[in-house]
Amino acid sequence: MRYDTLTRLIRRCGKCAQTRTIQLDLRSLNIQGDVRRVDCVDGDHFVAITLNDEIIDVNDTYCDRLDDEWREVRADRDKVLFYTLSQIVYPDFDTPRPEKLESLYAMVGEFDVVLLRWQGGKAIGFYTVKPTGTEIFSTKERYVMPVVDTAYIRSEYRNRGFGTGILSDVIARFPNEDIGFSKPISSGMLRILKAFLTSHKEYRLRFWEIADCDISGSQQLIWCTLKRATL
Ligand SMILES: CC(C)(COP(=O)(O)OP(=O)(O)OC[C@H]1O[C@@H](n2cnc3c(N)ncnc32)[C@H](O)[C@@H]1OP(=O)(O)O)[C@@H](O)C(=O)NCCC(=O)NCCS
Repeated sequence: MRYDTLTRLIRRCGKCAQTRTIQLDLRSLNIQGDVRRVDCVDGDHFVAITLNDEIIDVNDTYCDRLDDEWREVRADRDKVLFYTLSQIVYPDFDTPRPEKLESLYAMVGEFDVVLLRWQGGKAIGFYTVKPTGTEIFSTKERYVMPVVDTAYIRSEYRNRGFGTGILSDVIARFPNEDIGFSKPISSGMLRILKAFLTSHKEYRLRFWEIADCDISGSQQLIWCTLKRATL
């Protein structure tokens, strides 16, 4: 392990020197390697994730990802960065606000498509898609269209158009298909959808709100939901 880097990270926390390490089960991300989470014992602060003894720091700049783009996650390192954003940074540092209908995210399913947003070599957000045909374990129903299941942009990068970029990216990846959005849709995302559908009439009959507990019964046109909502 690169102890110099780990020490630097612990110093950044500023409170403690002793660490606790737990092994993570990231089988749903199909990671081929040993992944561990390191926390400070004293303050219970998150320090880092290691992959095969290499520190994967979500605040680092990665020279092989300098193109500013949404990119499907395939490499183990990028899967770890996605895990860090969705299961640590979002819940612990950008804590979801229930009054805005923001919710915590479960781990992704085996067949989910995971996209990271790269900006200046940093992973600054993600969204995930349940592909058409994905089966819901509890009800055995299957998704009839690709469904954007989770979405997140780090708070320091918000209000710059990255969230809106999720919509542009998903329609480019799934051309000619209806697109679902998992319920509940947060108020922030609903505002983005409103702006998008106001200027892109051709998608008004193609974006649906869908609940995973009742795919066929819950499906509602987002444009109709927006007509009723006060945002
Ligand atoms: C919802 C979320 C993804 C939006 O991300 P974002 O990057 O801030 O989205 P955008 O920048 O495209 O749009 C946000 C606002 O900034 C505005 N904006 C867009 N580009 C801008 C720019 N260059 N300058 C200033 N404002 C800008 C948009 O008009 C929008 O304004 P509004 O809130 O008044 O409607 C983000 O807030 C988030 O991660 N929230 C927590 C999790 C969540 O709610 N996920 C969605 C679950 S359904």
